[in-house]
Amino acid sequence: MIEIAKNAGFCFGVRRATDTVEKMISQNDGGEIYILGKLIHNEQYNDYLRKNGVKDINSEQIPELIERAQNGKKITLVIRTHGIERQIQAQLEEDSDKITVVDCTCPYVKKIHQIVYDNSQNGEAVFVIGKENHPEVHSIVSYAGAQAYVFANAAELENHLISQCDEQKNVIFPIIMVAQTTQKLTEWEKCQKIIKKYCTNAKIFDTICSVTEKRQIEARELSSRCSLMVVVGGRESSNTSKLFAICKEECGNALWVETASELQFAQLGHENNIGITAGASTPDCIIQEVSKTMSEIMENENFAQMLDEEMAKKQKIYVGATVKGIVMSIDKNEIRLDLGDKLTGVITRDQITDSNDVELSTLFSIGDEVDATVMSKSDFEGTAILSKKKVDSVKNWSKVVEYANTAEVVSAKVTEVTKGGLVADVDGVRVFIPASMTGTAKDESLDSFKGTTQEIIIVEIKEDKKRAIGSIKEVIKAKKKAATEAFWNGEIAEGMVFEGPVKSIVSYGAFVDLGGVDGLVHITELSWKRIKNPSEVVSVGQIIKVFVKSVDKENKRISLGYKTDDQNPWNVFKSKYEIGSVASVKVVGVTTFGAFAEIVPGVDGLIHISQIADKKIDSVASILKAGDVVDAQVMEIDDEKQKVSLSIRALLPKEEAAEEVVEEAVEATEEAAE
Ligand code: F3S
Repeated sequence: MIEIAKNAGFCFGVRRATDTVEKMISQNDGGEIYILGKLIHNEQYNDYLRKNGVKDINSEQIPELIERAQNGKKITLVIRTHGIERQIQAQLEEDSDKITVVDCTCPYVKKIHQIVYDNSQNGEAVFVIGKENHPEVHSIVSYAGAQAYVFANAAELENHLISQCDEQKNVIFPIIMVAQTTQKLTEWEKCQKIIKKYCTNAKIFDTICSVTEKRQIEARELSSRCSLMVVVGGRESSNTSKLFAICKEECGNALWVETASELQFAQLGHENNIGITAGASTPDCIIQEVSKTMSEIMENENFAQMLDEEMAKKQKIYVGATVKGIVMSIDKNEIRLDLGDKLTGVITRDQITDSNDVELSTLFSIGDEVDATVMSKSDFEGTAILSKKKVDSVKNWSKVVEYANTAEVVSAKVTEVTKGGLVADVDGVRVFIPASMTGTAKDESLDSFKGTTQEIIIVEIKEDKKRAIGSIKEVIKAKKKAATEAFWNGEIAEGMVFEGPVKSIVSYGAFVDLGGVDGLVHITELSWKRIKNPSEVVSVGQIIKVFVKSVDKENKRISLGYKTDDQNPWNVFKSKYEIGSVASVKVVGVTTFGAFAEIVPGVDGLIHISQIADKKIDSVASILKAGDVVDAQVMEIDDEKQKVSLSIRALLPKEEAAEEVVEEAVEATEEAAE
């Protein structure tokens, strides 16, 4: 039985670098390609690059390169995954107008540079757990603001800390501690315990890359099930050496080979349970070669086939399959994934999100693991076109079912307007909202919904067809119910003032929306004047100010007032006139005993027949008629009965004493009232 670790071979950082250089080779633009150091820790692969004209140089040769570039040579310098020292990076940036620099530093390494730089500018000592002479460690150390120390393991770290302790056995100066990306997990855990034991002032950053972590956990698990572990990878590779140590520790029987040529029958013996894992810089072709050679050595006809099957298990990529990939690049309109087996997955923006506003870089980071469905595949180009939406839709179906069960209000992005309603997206799942559930009037256009985000409740699930029906109307209803409850549970009391729209008008009044509850303004409360229909005063939709006249909490009824005291005609009259004032009045009615005239709208006064002229008259109508406007003096105001006596005669040239006129007017008014 042979088992190959699923994560054996190139990690995404290495694949990104090798893909970049291979692309440059294939473009063959006549320029020269240089790498600062060896691209990866695999001699076979580096030989392949050399054969294709790619040269590796050291940093001291950079000035020479720049000189060649100034003499007209087209030169590209590649920075490998381990990164370079800060000073060299700065120098290259200054010379960027002379040579092209392609930075393939792994994003995980760049993150450590940033952490070290940001946290060591105030004199903090930087502790790096890693291999002192490793290029990645060199680059990390160069970002330290003050002193940096490299420790290969927990024992070295502890010795150093003991030497720095004060009398209380504490190290009090500030320290930050990071790990080389490929550090062994168990060793790193020991280092964390030690630093916490001695230091009161240490900041620890867990910087082992997730790919390494996963590979080590998998190697340990596989080793525990195998009688022999074969580890494939370059001798200089730090992560391969850690893998080998783990396999040896867990399995007890481990073999480290760079290539298949190192395999011998004696080493393999007659093991029947062999595991294979490989470092992050081991090309797949070498793993395949190792497996095939093992097959031949063990003279087992089915061996190679078994191995092939194991390799195939790594990830089957066919149209319709769901695959996992690591994010290698993020552009405005697409992301690219490393799918393993030298295959790149491409997910365009429209297969990720419906939003045009969202930046893809806010949704993903380099190194994220993403699930997607294969839409098409080109073996020739080594690419697969993927859809994340499809996977989300399947994954999130159960979420949508849960939304339906709990009647939760969810956000839905309307993607389409159809004849029968709206199509919306809820967590990547297509939800249909029938027109009748949109909350709009029948025959009203739904076009304005397109592109908007609506709150909906999933009201129906058709599990067999994976269809979900949503309703905006249910949300409106639920909101209204909640508002109604809140209203009646609140402190509603007489005299409270509200502002709200007129919802509807009926013959006996108008209903006003008070925020979830409708109150009635009776027709008599709308105006001080006598009106035939409420529409003479208010219209539907008009926002009006009302006050609570009475509340019936038991029957959930509320009566409102609209007309106010300051509009009361009697008050208006009183504010303008007093006894003795002269008013321009309009005759509104003529009787046998006098004429009624409007003083202000809503208040009429009586001009008794005796107060119309300065002589006795037989008929009021012979002098006054409706519509006449005359001046009259206010003779008496009866607040209780709200009556006013007027006199035209009082304004005529005096032939008799004014008191007499007043007396007569009063008497006449009283008579008329009786
Ligand atoms: Fe980067 Fe981790 Fe590979 S740090 S280069 S992804 S092993």
